[in-house]
Amino acid sequence: MGTYRIAVIPGDGIGSEIVAEALKVLDKVGQTFGHSFTYTQLLMGGAAYDAVGTCFPEDTVPVCREHDAVLLGAVGGPRWDHLSGAERPEKALLKIREGLGLYANLRPALMHRALSAACPIKQEHVGDSMDLLIVRELTGGIYFGEHGWREGRYGQEAYDVERYSEMEIRRIAKVAFEAAMTRRKNLVSVDKANVLETSRFWRRVVTEMSAGYPEVTLSHMYVDNAAMQLVHRPSQFDVILTSNMFGDILSDEASMITGSLGMLPSASLADGSFGLYEPSHGSAPDIAGKGIANPLATILSASMLLRYSLGLNAEADAVDAAVTAVLDAGIRTCDIAEPGKPSVGTADMGKAVCERICPPPSDTKCASLHGEARFCLA
Ligand code: IPM
Ligand code: MG
Repeated sequence: MGTYRIAVIPGDGIGSEIVAEALKVLDKVGQTFGHSFTYTQLLMGGAAYDAVGTCFPEDTVPVCREHDAVLLGAVGGPRWDHLSGAERPEKALLKIREGLGLYANLRPALMHRALSAACPIKQEHVGDSMDLLIVRELTGGIYFGEHGWREGRYGQEAYDVERYSEMEIRRIAKVAFEAAMTRRKNLVSVDKANVLETSRFWRRVVTEMSAGYPEVTLSHMYVDNAAMQLVHRPSQFDVILTSNMFGDILSDEASMITGSLGMLPSASLADGSFGLYEPSHGSAPDIAGKGIANPLATILSASMLLRYSLGLNAEADAVDAAVTAVLDAGIRTCDIAEPGKPSVGTADMGKAVCERICPPPSDTKCASLHGEARFCLA
């Protein structure tokens, strides 16, 4: 039984709708398992810009640090597209990742059997199942290298520099090797070592580290091939380790294979147990306020929060199992509904998950779905 403090950043677009459902699920977990969660709501992104004139209020990082973890909805939208690069809501996301030292982004892509009809790839290519984890480096690479505009040989030009230090590669590779040890022990490091120096360095460091993990089968793949292999035979992957930008791209691709971008959670972890949890999808401004967004990625992100930051594995298992039970019962938001079949709204989906949260143990309906062990970043 514990008391946990969670900083909540609903953000923009559908953010507040999906976060509200994840909080209901956490409250239900609290009631069922005897924990109490307290929430501090913070503004960030376009919502903060409208309220206080900046997308990243100064106290965001210090306030988040006073909490056990952060739950975030999504930021950004066309309303703030006129802002300069440095002022944009997306920049606030990069600042919070950097400010909180969240270098390890875990993006699991799990195909729920009940959703196989929503998978755009022919079943024979997907194989038995798809259950992979993308470990994306989150505070380095081209996102955080030097950016600028200048006068070049042919007039004005712009540039973004890709840069990785050995320390940055080592610490993210360690996360990936350790994650692989808790799973099927298969690690694919994705790079573009046929062209980029940063990738050649990345490959060298990861290869050196593999000596420390003799049980893990390590292979390397160029990113263009990895993008193709993901749609060709996604079940070949267990853990994918990659850089910030390649991870951004491959995680959207992987999520779509599972049926919908609306299903993919993510954890962004710092050293220790602190982390920020958010769905991998964006703020979906086109459907904001309509009450139809799929809250499952955010609910599954709350499950990752329970598991990775609070060490509450049974509770996380109960949330994952409740999501599976909802899908097995045929309950669908419109993004994952089969054409012509009925769908429910955001709040009803949240309610359906809450109703299926049941206490451990022995109840087979609550059996662990992922069997993922919690690991702390040392
Ligand atoms: C993501 C998003 C962000 C990223 C954007 C919104 C800055 O696409 O979390 O995948 O590129 O990291
Ligand atoms: Mg992205």
